[in-house]
Amino acid sequence: MPKLITIKNPKSPISEAYRGIRTSIQFSDLDKGMKVITVTSSKQNEGKTTVITNLATTFANLDKKVLVIDGDLRNPGVHRMFGISNLHGLTDVLVDNTTFVDCVNCTDIKNLHVLTCGVVPPNPSEMLASQRMKEFIENLKDNYDYIFIDAPPIGIVTDAGVISSYSDGCILVIGANETDIETAKLAKERLDSVGAKIIGTVLNKFAVKTNGHDYYAYYYQGRKSKKSNRKMNKKEKSMA
Ligand SMILES: Nc1ncnc2c1ncn2[C@@H]1O[C@H](COP(=O)(O)OP(=O)(O)O)[C@@H](O)[C@H]1O
Ligand SMILES: [Mg+2]
Repeated sequence: MPKLITIKNPKSPISEAYRGIRTSIQFSDLDKGMKVITVTSSKQNEGKTTVITNLATTFANLDKKVLVIDGDLRNPGVHRMFGISNLHGLTDVLVDNTTFVDCVNCTDIKNLHVLTCGVVPPNPSEMLASQRMKEFIENLKDNYDYIFIDAPPIGIVTDAGVISSYSDGCILVIGANETDIETAKLAKERLDSVGAKIIGTVLNKFAVKTNGHDYYAYYYQGRKSKKSNRKMNKKEKSMA
């Protein structure tokens, strides 16, 4: 059984927040479209795996064909979110131990497939940067509407930057309890320096007080286009 809030409690404010992020992504690049989306953060534990798996689920709920790939080859966690085995996965496909079709998982969620990490390799950066990996993702694009890749933190190694280079957009997750503003800024600079297209940031795990109770929440800030900043003209107002 998946550990996903968007499945367990689809009417909760948190699930609603995920649907808000989904809408922002859908509107974020109308011309090119967002097909391959990755997630990263400054450090471990800020909520990357939680965010990408829940987000993928909200897209699958729209009847889109969705694939989640665990690209965090150092600290994989996608299999735990879906309660599935990580015996075979991405790394096995990349070294030809098995085929994608043999190890992709169908989940209890309609339209949502999962490719777990597989055996944790000794050379994760090399694997992620390989031509093989790029071609693999390119070929999958024909079979899925959206591909979500969970990535390692951008902090220490370049893996997340490498994954971003073959993604259409990247979401930066900031754990309110884990990261200070300077570290978050540094993560953004690192992503910018590898040419990653940051489509938004999720401020995760900040405590919100409602009726005296704390609950942990999400806040998404997407990139604002010039168009979305301007006021509506008369004709648009009449159509709204
Ligand atoms: N909004 C949230 N509120 C409370 N706990 C959260 C939230 N997001 C993530 N967590 C918890 O924080 C821990 C780390 O999350 P995870 O998604 O595995 O982070 P990462 O993939 O960045 O290492 C997990 O135990 C997860 O359940
Ligand atoms: Mg993770």
